[in-house]
Amino acid sequence: MTDQPNPDLDSTKLYLSPEKDELFEKGPWPKPFVFNEDVVQVFDNMISRSVPLYREVLACAAHWAKDYYQAGTRIIDVGCSTGTFLELLGRFLKQPATLVGIDNSQPMLEKARHKLVRVQQIHQVELICDRAQNYSFENSSVVVINYTLQFLPLQERQKLLRSIYEGLTPGGLLFLSEKIESPYRQFQETITRHYEAFKAHNGYARTEIERKKEALENVLVPLTEAQQIQMLHESGFSQIDSAIKLHNFISLVALK
Ligand SMILES: C[S@@+](CC[C@H](N)C(=O)[O-])C[C@H]1O[C@@H](n2cnc3c(N)ncnc32)[C@H](O)[C@@H]1O
Repeated sequence: MTDQPNPDLDSTKLYLSPEKDELFEKGPWPKPFVFNEDVVQVFDNMISRSVPLYREVLACAAHWAKDYYQAGTRIIDVGCSTGTFLELLGRFLKQPATLVGIDNSQPMLEKARHKLVRVQQIHQVELICDRAQNYSFENSSVVVINYTLQFLPLQERQKLLRSIYEGLTPGGLLFLSEKIESPYRQFQETITRHYEAFKAHNGYARTEIERKKEALENVLVPLTEAQQIQMLHESGFSQIDSAIKLHNFISLVALK
C-alpha cells in the first residue's frame, strides 16, 4: 500500500462523548448487563476505558476498510453503538461511500445520528435499528463487527457469520473484534489479572470492576481464539489472520 499517512486519521481523536462512566460505582447498575438508557449515556467513556487499544482497533479497522472497500458496495458496522467507528471512517475515506450502521438499541442510534451529521455531507449514511440476525448483508465489501458477536447466544453467532459471508462480495473483508478467553486456566488467570490492572489504570475501582464482571456473567460469553477462527472457517471464510491482540481481546480479519 502506497498511501501517505492521513492527517485526518488521528486515532487519538475519536469523537467520544465525555460523560464519565460511574454506573458501577454509584448505580443503578444493570444486572444482568443490558445496553439500557443509563449505559448509552456513558457508553463512549465506558468502552474506551474498558477495551484495551480501543482507539487503535478502530483506526486499524478504518485502514482495513479503506483497503478492501469496493466502489459501489456498502460498508457495514454491526453493533455500531454511538457511531464512533463510522464517524472515524467517514473522515478517513475520501471517496463517497455508503456507510451502514446496525444496532438494536434506538438510544444508541440517536447518539450515532448526532455524531454522524458531518460525515453525512460526504457519504450516504444509513442507521438501522434491528437485530443483526435479521439483516441482509448483500452488496457489502467490508463488514466490521466490533465487540458485538460476543453478546449473541452461542447458537446464533455462526449463523450471523454465515449470513455476513453470504452477503459479502468476492474479495470482501470481515473485521471482527471480540473478548476472548485462554484455553489454559493459568493463562486465563494471568490475562484476567492484566486486564483488570488495565481497567484500574483507567480509573475503575476494584468494586466497579467486580460489579461489572458479575453483571456480564452469562451475558458476554467469550470463546477462545481457536474457536473464533474455527467459526469463521466454518462460515466460509478462507483466509483468516489476527490484526491486533492484547490481554483478553482480539481483532481478526477474514477474507471472502
Ligand atoms: C459493545 S457494543 C459495540 C461497540 C461498538 N462496535 C464500538 O466499537 O464502539 C455492542 C453493541 O451491540 C448492540 N447489539 C447487541 N446485540 C445486538 C444484535 N443482536 N443486533 C444488533 N446490535 C446488537 C448493542 O446495542 C451495543 O450497542
